[in-house]
Order: sequence, then C-alpha cells, then structure tokens
Amino acid sequence: MASGDSVHGMWSSRLMFILAAAGSAVGLGNIWRFPYLAGENGGGVFVVVYLLCIFLVGIPIMSGEILLGRSGRQSPISTMRDLTARSGAHPAWQLVGWMGALAGFMIISFYSVIAGWAISYIFQMGSGAFNGADAQYASSAFSAFTGDVVSVVGWHSLFMVLTIFIAARGVGRGLEVTVKYLMPALFFLLITLVVYSAVTSGHFMEGVAFMFSLNFDKFTWAGALSAMGQAFFTLSLGMGAIMAYGAYMPKSASILGTATTIALLDTSVALMSGLVIFPLVFANGLESSAGPGLMFITLPLAFGQMVGGQIFGVVFFVLVTFAAITSSISLLEPAVAWVVEKGGFSRAKGAILVGALAWFVGLGSAFSTNIWAGFTVLGGLTFFGLMDYVANNIMLPVGGVLIVLFAGWKLEQKTVDEQMAGDLRFLPVWRVLVRFVAPLAVSVIFVLTFV
Ligand code: TRP
Repeated sequence: MASGDSVHGMWSSRLMFILAAAGSAVGLGNIWRFPYLAGENGGGVFVVVYLLCIFLVGIPIMSGEILLGRSGRQSPISTMRDLTARSGAHPAWQLVGWMGALAGFMIISFYSVIAGWAISYIFQMGSGAFNGADAQYASSAFSAFTGDVVSVVGWHSLFMVLTIFIAARGVGRGLEVTVKYLMPALFFLLITLVVYSAVTSGHFMEGVAFMFSLNFDKFTWAGALSAMGQAFFTLSLGMGAIMAYGAYMPKSASILGTATTIALLDTSVALMSGLVIFPLVFANGLESSAGPGLMFITLPLAFGQMVGGQIFGVVFFVLVTFAAITSSISLLEPAVAWVVEKGGFSRAKGAILVGALAWFVGLGSAFSTNIWAGFTVLGGLTFFGLMDYVANNIMLPVGGVLIVLFAGWKLEQKTVDEQMAGDLRFLPVWRVLVRFVAPLAVSVIFVLTFV
C-alpha cells in the first residue's frame, strides 16, 4: 500500500474509478425508476427539470463528494469526522456522514426488493410465459407476481445474498470484474432495444414527443421535486456512496472531468431506457403513468412479440440484475467501510452484518405489494413508497447540499487546491456552482414544493 492510499483498497486506475462509479450510478434508477417517474409526471417537463438538475446540481455535488472522499480516504462517516476537525468546522458537520448511512440503508432496503423482481423476471422470461402475450396478460402477470409474498421475499433475499457476496470480496476483485464486462454489455443491449423500438413499434415519434416536448400545463412543484430526487438517486449522490468510492480514487485523476463523464454515461442510459419504453407503452395502449410496474409490464410484452425475444428477455433481465448489483454494493459500501474501521471486522463480516440489517428493513417494502398493500400513510404511501419518498426526495438532496456547502465553504483552501489540481481551468466555475448554484437550486425546489 502506497502512503496516502485507503486501507480498504484502491482502484487500479482512473478508468476503474469511472467504471465503478458509473456502475454505481447506472442501475434500476435509469431503467426502472426514470421512465416510470417521467410517465407519472407528464414526460417532457419532468425530463427537462431532471436534466437541469443533473448538470447544475448533480455534477457539482458529485465532484464535491469525490473531493471529500479523496481527501479523507476513509468511510464517509470517518472522513467527515476528520475533515470537520481538520478544517475547524462546527462538529455538527459530522452528521452528514451519519445521515448518509441512514439514507443508504433506507434505499438499499427497497432497492433489493425491486432488483429481486428483476431476477424473477429472468426466469419468467426464460419459461416462455410471455411468448405472444398481450398487454392484459403482462399486467396481470406483474400483479400476480408482486402479490405473492413468498416469491417477492425469496428473490429479495437472493439479491441481498449476491450483493453481500460481491461486497465481501472487496474493492478490486469484487467490483471491478463485474463492472468491466457487464456494463458495456448492458449498454449495447439497450442500443439494440432502442433500434427495435424505433423500427417495429410504429409509435417511436410519439415516445420521443412524450419525453421531449415541453407541456407546461403538466408542470407541478411536486413533479419538480421528484425530478430532483431522481437526479440524486440516479447519480448515487447525497449519501456518501460516491464519497466512499472517491476514497479509493488515485490521486492524479481530474475530479470534474471524471464526474462529467459519469453523469453523461448515466444520463444516456436513462434516456435510452425511456426511448425503449415509451414507444412500447403507446404502441400497446398502456398507461404511461402505470407506476413502478411500467418496465416490468412493457418490456416482457415487447420481448414476447419479438423474434428471439425469449432469449433477449433473459439476457436483458440478467444485465439489469448485474446493473443493480453494481449499484447496491455502492449503497452498502459506506456502512461496510465504517464497520470495518470501527469494529475491526473483516470485510466479509462487515458486509454480512450490514446486508442482514438492510434485508430486514427491506421486508417492509417486500410486503408493500401484498400483505401490507393496504397499509398506507401520508396520502397513500406504502412502506416502500415512504422509504423511497423520504430517502430520495428529502434525505439525498439535503445530504447533497450539505456536502457541497462543506466542500465549497468549509474545507481548507489548501486541500481544495490540491484535490482540484487537475481542474484548474474550471475552478472558478466550479466554485460558483458548488457555493451558490447547487444549494440555491435545491432550496428553491424545496421551498416551492412545501410552502
Ligand atoms: N444510482 C443507482 C441507480 O440509479 C442507485 C444507487 C446506488 C444510489 N448507490 C446510491 C442511489 C447511492 C442513491 C445513493 O440505480
């Protein structure tokens, strides 16, 4: 271990960091959550607010997280503790690390449940059940599956075991291998599906119009809040996942350039997913506002009508599952790294401990489509809906803003200059974004949504 490296290990190169962070970013958020939220919130206006948030808020916050992570080289909790002390900031800043770990637990708990749905669909596609199926069949198959508590819990458990297994293998051996081969495969399969959707659905332009035309009648502040929450969720920001990964980033790599690359990759996957899903929605007379089931209804339906669709369907859900795993390990990483630092546990024990707890909380989300479906709060949110809403729309933006405020105003100048040495040309712009633009944008959306 070279001096200045993290005890948890290091990425072997800047490219590996990009792959790992892109692996964290690209996941269910892009393929499952982005299309259904855009569908629920009127399409184009949602997409525009989302894109603005990615570039004006997301990239600055991501660079802030990497900067703090690489300065601290430990778990986000320990990093925030040390940087707070080193910069002479108020000790309350340490809470940022703790709040992030809590948000991470809340997210991984439901994330694992949805990823479990995706694993189950590998087998459902493989069985040929969707060959020649119609929209009615695809919808009822989805309700029947999510209504079955035993299956949902079973697949959730399997996904958590897989996540723990890879997280336990550690930074290099576990993550790099998964990300290096499977992410590009997912990218190519998505391009293929966009082409399929464009050529065969007959409704491609309708999908494009839905996603990109600005219909201001559909604008609501609640929708803007969801778009902002989605920008945080999809880039894995606000809870320390990228801070944890930044801790293993080689010293020399440029932070801003790297963050921009990751955001562009992530955004292109989300937009492609929308371009696959919406034309299929319109071609099959489905509801764009179908909610969390949108991907699980439209895609099996499309695969069922496609030549070789049974195989494509299996491959697609396998890749979605892997995309979800490379994300879920990043959700666990802050807590695992902290447990290892504090408890003197091995990585394997730490991963099992943290994963088991997240699994337990996840049961609440697994029950939300069956035995607890009738149990709602705050105007109709199930346990899953509540976890998703509070973590993504509130905790991530608050955490993210605190992170950039700390990076922009509190961190000693010397550390900033050292870390941003690769981005000198853009440093003035970066400062304005981090100090003013990102915090103000988030505050405006909060105030206008809740006041
Ligand atoms: N970004 C991932 C996705 O789009 C999910 C994710 C991974 C995440 N790590 C995170 C979300 C940290 C918020 C915070 O699927």
